[in-house]
Amino acid sequence: MNAYSPIGPVVGVVGAGQLARMTQQPAIALGIELRVLAGAPDESAARVIVDTRIGDYRDLSDLRDFAKGCDAITFDHEHVPTEHIRALAADGVEVHPGADALVHAQDKAVMRERLTEIGAPCPAWARVADAGEATAFAAEHGWPVVLKAIRGGYDGRGVWMCRTDADVADAFSAEVPLMAEAFVPFDRELAVLVARSPHGQGVSYPVVETVQQDGICVEVLAPAPGLDPEQAAQAQRVALDIANELGVTGLLAVEMFQTSDGLLVNELAMRPHNSGHWTIEGSRTSQFEQHLRAVLDLPLGSPTMTAPVVVMANLLGGDDPDLFKRYEHVMAHDPGIKVHFYGKQVRPGRKIGHVTALGTDLDEVRARARHAAVHLTTGEYA
Ligand SMILES: Nc1ncnc2c1ncn2[C@@H]1O[C@H](COP(=O)(O)OP(=O)(O)OP(=O)(O)O)[C@@H](O)[C@H]1O
Ligand SMILES: [Mg+2]
Repeated sequence: MNAYSPIGPVVGVVGAGQLARMTQQPAIALGIELRVLAGAPDESAARVIVDTRIGDYRDLSDLRDFAKGCDAITFDHEHVPTEHIRALAADGVEVHPGADALVHAQDKAVMRERLTEIGAPCPAWARVADAGEATAFAAEHGWPVVLKAIRGGYDGRGVWMCRTDADVADAFSAEVPLMAEAFVPFDRELAVLVARSPHGQGVSYPVVETVQQDGICVEVLAPAPGLDPEQAAQAQRVALDIANELGVTGLLAVEMFQTSDGLLVNELAMRPHNSGHWTIEGSRTSQFEQHLRAVLDLPLGSPTMTAPVVVMANLLGGDDPDLFKRYEHVMAHDPGIKVHFYGKQVRPGRKIGHVTALGTDLDEVRARARHAAVHLTTGEYA
């Protein structure tokens, strides 16, 4: 038991990664008491949130203890078993998003089935039980074929780009249920972040371009440069429609492919998303504040941008863990740059933070964000 009693509403976040950590800042401003369920006391959010409970998100009794006294429960990741979320809701806990919505961010096959049903544009896809079914799918839709773990993938882990039968066999050696997707020869990747409250109020942020390397997001450009306004409006409509149809409460990030034939939905996330980190400085209401408002069913905040161009670059761990010694150069070089470090152990390739630059000229803003990200992670001067 904690020695204090809460003054404001209590929001419980299951999971204590960087998303929960970054939610703490707007919670402070709004007087919302954030509680996190961490697996261990050294996790990213556990290091900064006073009301940290240690427990296992796969254990219903830990979740029930955690939810006691919370006005709403939400998530930092997609891994809480669907049946536990249903059990909490049956106990009378306000869980946002609810199980029926969240399953579409947990299970890529369920997501594809539902999106197909509601007419959202998707790549050709199929559940595939074995390598034979996957090669039959490839024979019909063409190589390469993309195999995806139906559950549990992130940062490109759980995605296999298969060019040969041997690649297909390799994907199946992971022994997890897979689905196949036609390879999309996209021009670029876009993301639309929307929020929807239990009341049904919806808000969309501007469409952004996301740049991935090796399946991991490295850069986000807001707004997506040169996007036709009609196509941008269409992307926002698709995302708001999905939020409505699925009954999403809280944030919904819709990853899309832009192709010469139009937009296709890649995947969904129902929580603050890497493609929305730019909103901390770049929008009147950050995605973290917006998520808190939505899960507490408060009126949503303005998504208006604070500058014409915003660029976010992820910090991926390099060989030298001492980021702080490189702060001096980055801060002296660019007084406008904003650095976010998640308080995670630095490991090569791990997302450990991000930087954000604001301005008016895309090339200039992008160069500033890159310079800071490259220097912080490698010590080099890009
Ligand atoms: N059908 C496809 N055709 C071409 N490229 C694809 C396809 N599906 C995925 N990709 C590429 O792989 C990346 C990762 O795929 P996806 O978003 O499905 O995986 P994830 O690991 O769940 O991602 P996240 O890190 O967003 O959780 C995409 O951003 C895209 O670059
Ligand atoms: Mg993705």
